[in-house]
Amino acid sequence: MDAIVAVCKRRGFIFQSSEIYGGYNGFFDFGPLGVELKKNIKDAWWKDMVHRREDIEGLDSSIIMSPKIWVASGHVGGFSDPMVDCKVSKMRYRADQLFFAPVLVDGEKIGYVSILEDGNMQADAQAAAEKMKRKGGHQGELAPVELKEYTEADESEYELIPSPATGEPGSLTAPREFNLMFETKVGALSDSSATAYLRPETAQGIFANYKNVVDTGRVKIPFGIAQIGKAFRNEITPKNFIFRSREFEQMEIEYFVSPDADWSEIHQEWIKYCHDWLLSIGLPEEMLGRDVHEKLAHYAKACTDITFEFPFGEQELWGIAARGDFDLSQHAEHSGKPMEIFDETAKKKYIPHVIEPSLGVDRLLLALLTAAYTEDEVGGEKRTVMKFHPRIAPYKVAVLPLLKNKPELVGRAREIFDKLSKRYNVFWDVAGAIGKRYRRQDEAGTPWCVTIDFDTIEKDGTVTLRDRDTTEQKRVSEEELYKFLDESLF
Ligand code: GAP
Repeated sequence: MDAIVAVCKRRGFIFQSSEIYGGYNGFFDFGPLGVELKKNIKDAWWKDMVHRREDIEGLDSSIIMSPKIWVASGHVGGFSDPMVDCKVSKMRYRADQLFFAPVLVDGEKIGYVSILEDGNMQADAQAAAEKMKRKGGHQGELAPVELKEYTEADESEYELIPSPATGEPGSLTAPREFNLMFETKVGALSDSSATAYLRPETAQGIFANYKNVVDTGRVKIPFGIAQIGKAFRNEITPKNFIFRSREFEQMEIEYFVSPDADWSEIHQEWIKYCHDWLLSIGLPEEMLGRDVHEKLAHYAKACTDITFEFPFGEQELWGIAARGDFDLSQHAEHSGKPMEIFDETAKKKYIPHVIEPSLGVDRLLLALLTAAYTEDEVGGEKRTVMKFHPRIAPYKVAVLPLLKNKPELVGRAREIFDKLSKRYNVFWDVAGAIGKRYRRQDEAGTPWCVTIDFDTIEKDGTVTLRDRDTTEQKRVSEEELYKFLDESLF
């Protein structure tokens, strides 16, 4: 994970938000390479889910909507996580992600170390221990309280206590429900009637517009509405880089089906479709898994997550839920507007049921970074290479004149760059030794480099085409180059 975070920073994929002010936990900025990667992911999803499917329409709804929507959806009442406050360190934790281990000094228990689910120890044990020291309670060696990453090997040293709900350890408040929605005020009034929320999912914008799409389009059951957009959750413990952040993007589809349809079969079809799509953009089969939920949210009939083997373990990547008619029925009840559709084939009216594939853009981006990150050796030298699928690679090709002080080489290379950049995102690089320039492109994940040398201008007009993954180089004519890229990228 550290290596991935380092390459992201070094090459300008992802930066910590507000870095010049010491960062802002749970928020991230996407640099020049990251923004291209993210855009390519969203474009690929939109092309395959919306453009290439006749049964799915697109939508872009507002981020702030009537607060009544969030009452109807259940988010005002129930979108919360159990939270505990540590009175010593003033830190907040998600109660269900917290474990404790007693800290012993000279065999005597003096406090607890809290260990988050992902293995990070938190500072409150240290604080507790120091407080005790100040009180003159203990002068002896503190063991084991080095703040560090908790590993399985440490397990024998600690006796883990699973939940703060037991009342132990003493420095924690009892768990309380913490609503994850960000509140804001809309308009000039400052009382509670002005309270609104940043959407915690894009899905409700789809349900709220379902009638508009039905009434203005020519959709026929079964059909879907897709949306890509920002979502916000005041996560208690944002963690694992961009895996769980407070501001992120979702790509969601609500797929409406007849209540008489075999929803379980359609659910399974969607799981397979989503799985195959992930393979098509470069995630390896062996890093994907499934998690079939046994405990379901009150509105769900079934839910399966496609999981991914992240550096910190196997975790949810894409949630695919069968939500029945819960959302539309709620909105019908709360808005007083009918949500039925007339099914021309069955000649009857009903509120459709829904299958919902919901995917986080940032989480997928982290999965793609993880799968792409490779270290190997070229000519005895270590190299880092990001093996992105060409479809999502930030730059598709780099154009490199062999020498920057030879105008005829640079001029010819510029002509090729101009032609290629009409079709693709192309990188232009004249600075430094050619080997160094190749390495820079390897780290950026550019699938091909095109080098213009003296043979190009003095002999047969051919250029060198270098493959990122194999580092193999071959000479091709300009025509062959354009044909090759077209075939590889479309
Ligand atoms: N509309 C259903 C819904 O929002 P979810 O399981 O809460 O379901 C769906 O979220 C997907 O959104 C997740 O599978 C994940 O990819 C992404 N996601 C959720 N919370 C996130 C967070 N805090 N940071 C990044 N991605 C998140």
